[in-house]
Amino acid sequence: MNNILKGKRGIITGALDANSIAWKVAQRCHQEGATFTLTNAPIAMRMGEIKKLADETGAEIIPADATNVDELTTLFSKSMEVLGGKIDFVLHSIGMSPNIRKNRPYNDLDYNFYQKTLDVSALSLHKMMSVAWKLDAMNDWGSVVALTYIAAQRVYPFYTDMAEAKAMLESVTRSFGYHYGKKNKVRLNTISQSPTMTTAGSGIAGFETFFGFANELSPLGNASADACADYCVSLFSDLTRYVTMQNLFHDGGYSNTGISNEIMEKFGK
Ligand SMILES: NC(=O)c1ccc[n+]([C@@H]2O[C@H](COP(=O)([O-])OP(=O)(O)OC[C@H]3O[C@@H](n4cnc5c(N)ncnc54)[C@H](O)[C@@H]3O)[C@@H](O)[C@H]2O)c1
Repeated sequence: MNNILKGKRGIITGALDANSIAWKVAQRCHQEGATFTLTNAPIAMRMGEIKKLADETGAEIIPADATNVDELTTLFSKSMEVLGGKIDFVLHSIGMSPNIRKNRPYNDLDYNFYQKTLDVSALSLHKMMSVAWKLDAMNDWGSVVALTYIAAQRVYPFYTDMAEAKAMLESVTRSFGYHYGKKNKVRLNTISQSPTMTTAGSGIAGFETFFGFANELSPLGNASADACADYCVSLFSDLTRYVTMQNLFHDGGYSNTGISNEIMEKFGK
């Protein structure tokens, strides 16, 4: 490895188990010389395996519900204390829709669930950035990456209210990217990732069919969680310092492909 994150301090959210994209990001950041804290919702900690990852990467675990500003304040304050200085990078890898969990169709969403979806999956980024701003917790030229999905731009019927959550997440990224860029040259980007076999991904109805479709449409095939981790490392590094306020597709070319020969053949039968 090249130690391209040597000396950098981070906060990594969302590592639930070894399939989580955040899990791979933590492993790659560790390989590249970063130090970081790991965090997840307290409930996920009780079910989760995060301790194994913490032992492997020498990270401290600081539980925080990403919808709770007080807990996020503790997360940022304690992270600075534990890591010995301000934060250079943050991974927002958080998504959850109670409507999807309960199989509510788009024309009959539960609105309390809907608000929960938006709060957990999108407002949480605003809350994290606002807390970091008030604590002056980010170093100049820091980098924040949030994970999103192309359903923010195009209709994927099974994604229901998560589509709006991702659209909001991408908008918060642009808006906070402006303000934090002006204040501390902190950059914010979203990575729009291919379908990936994780707990959040495979909780979506028909996910496996869709995974196969995307894989056959993309000239390079679906991007894996490991490849996503590599991309995150590049965005946390100093090699991408002028990339900000962008939604970056990491999808093997899927988003710019109309149809592939493989799919033509299937429908030509
Ligand atoms: N898997 C995919 O196909 C795919 C594709 C594109 C984008 N994404 C996005 O990647 C991100 C990570 O998801 P993943 O696929 O690794 O699945 P995952 O289930 O492993 O991760 C989702 C995480 O969100 C955490 N979370 C939920 N509610 C929370 C709360 N209130 N406070 C703090 N954390 C909370 C969960 O505990 C879990 O660790 C999500 O934003 C997801 O939408 C996933």
